[in-house]
Amino acid sequence: MLKKFIIILITSILFIGCKESKVKGLITEKAMVVSAKKEASKVGSDILQKGGNAYDAMIATHFALAVVYPVAGNIGGGGFMVYRDKNGKKGALDFREKAPITAYKDMYLDSLGNVIKNKSVLGAHAVGIPGSVAGVFEVYKKFGSLPFKELIQPAIDLAKNGFTITRKQADDLNNATDRFRKVNNYKTIFDKEWKAGDLLIQNELAKTLERIRDFGKDGFYKGKTADFLVNYISELGGIITHEDLEKYVAIWRKPIEFSYKDYQITSMTLPASGGICLAQILKSIEPFDISKIEHNSTKYIQLLTEAEKRSYADRAHYLGDIDFINVPIDSLTATSYINKRMETFSWDKATPSSEISHGKILGYESDETTHYSIVDQFGNAVSVTTTLNTGYGSKVLVKGAGFFLNNEMDDFSSKPGTPNVYGLVGSKANSIVPEKRMLSSMTPTIVEKDGKLFMVVGTPGGSTIITSVLQNIINVVDYNMGMQEAVNQPRFHHQWLPDVIRMEPHSFSDATKKELEHLGYSILERNSLIIGRVDAILVLPDGKLEGGADPRGDDTAVGF
Ligand code: GLY
Repeated sequence: MLKKFIIILITSILFIGCKESKVKGLITEKAMVVSAKKEASKVGSDILQKGGNAYDAMIATHFALAVVYPVAGNIGGGGFMVYRDKNGKKGALDFREKAPITAYKDMYLDSLGNVIKNKSVLGAHAVGIPGSVAGVFEVYKKFGSLPFKELIQPAIDLAKNGFTITRKQADDLNNATDRFRKVNNYKTIFDKEWKAGDLLIQNELAKTLERIRDFGKDGFYKGKTADFLVNYISELGGIITHEDLEKYVAIWRKPIEFSYKDYQITSMTLPASGGICLAQILKSIEPFDISKIEHNSTKYIQLLTEAEKRSYADRAHYLGDIDFINVPIDSLTATSYINKRMETFSWDKATPSSEISHGKILGYESDETTHYSIVDQFGNAVSVTTTLNTGYGSKVLVKGAGFFLNNEMDDFSSKPGTPNVYGLVGSKANSIVPEKRMLSSMTPTIVEKDGKLFMVVGTPGGSTIITSVLQNIINVVDYNMGMQEAVNQPRFHHQWLPDVIRMEPHSFSDATKKELEHLGYSILERNSLIIGRVDAILVLPDGKLEGGADPRGDDTAVGF
């Protein structure tokens, strides 16, 4: 898989600089779904073919991913959706997980106040109250057009009849076997040596999906499924109760909206940090004529890195669940504030992260996820990022119900200044409080030009989500790339702490890396490292759609 990806990257690099991009994604006339798995994209596209809208396709794709992409597709996790309807009205839905009612600030610390290794990552204590099923029903209530049963049935069929797993999926499952065994008190269906082409049948998951089909939201948050979940969590020593499940609601929120050059960008608001950070970073670089700077050159990496450092420092200090804390969103995204933050930027040398803190706000009152993008034949667009957090979440597979539960509690700041699984640090703003939502980096985004739909974009990748979405927007807007070409480009990432530029391996020249090191930057490349798996759709000048399905995974565009 890595070899295939490197060949595609090199091919893409060779084509940059040519006037006509030869790297093209799937082009369709009317509608498209791009997701992490071909089966799920096809389920969504079939729903559109039947006359369903993008929201119907969202529901069908979401459930299908829960079956065919168990590493991150889910009903036991949560996520965010940004939409733009055919009339240009935009909105956002938050179906992020919540802390259990009996959660408390120091629940991951030992008696000496140190973080207990893995308690927020593996097993029953890592689990937040799942939001995906509530999210899907909110979408259906507001926008659904086809009968709900028709939307969930393809996922039930895939779970019952099975699907063949890919090489990458076999590798992912085999890598997680030890942790499945460590966490669960029974032998799960995933506990075997997997190879590409094996059939995965999930009968218990099929039955859970049937209960959701027959009883709606209550088929998950009440009754048999809830009993399975609560009883198993209790067997494993966790703290989730029936009351936690019954109280969960998804929330419609006002998205973050801002302009970058001639483009209007709509992205997710808190508890997802994506929209705010994307606005901060794009506004930091806006005064520079990016298109005159060579793509992925030393100067380009330097400029983005310095903007990213400053934004992630603010993220760590200011951002958390706006239902619980006051966050000065307007001040943090104000051009005057951002220009001031960039005053210390110099082309001559790196600004060490130790010299960067969060900015001062005047009048302050206060690596596994998945993304799918959909555009329908009516002109509606949805951008959804959803997750269990790390691969297979907490690794808890609900006994009797056949689905994985998230380990989203690790996205809280267990102890101020102590990094989470993504190396992100946080402050009091993101501390654990009962029923609070943990801070996320998810960045489902929609871009418009001249008031018309231009791009739907998003990605998994933990802390790297924001910078991957950023680079794809810049690739298209400033470097005039097509969607697939933009998605294929090598990516890099800086998140303030740790003070390193992470780079995809074998993708950046030795000369560039040497120059960056000379300027004071530390570079981290790991052989297995990929940054994000972007799935995006671009509206071409003739109105057709171009898909960008990330070759780093099994991602596929399907449409008509
Ligand atoms: N679980 C990764 C994120 O929400 O940022």
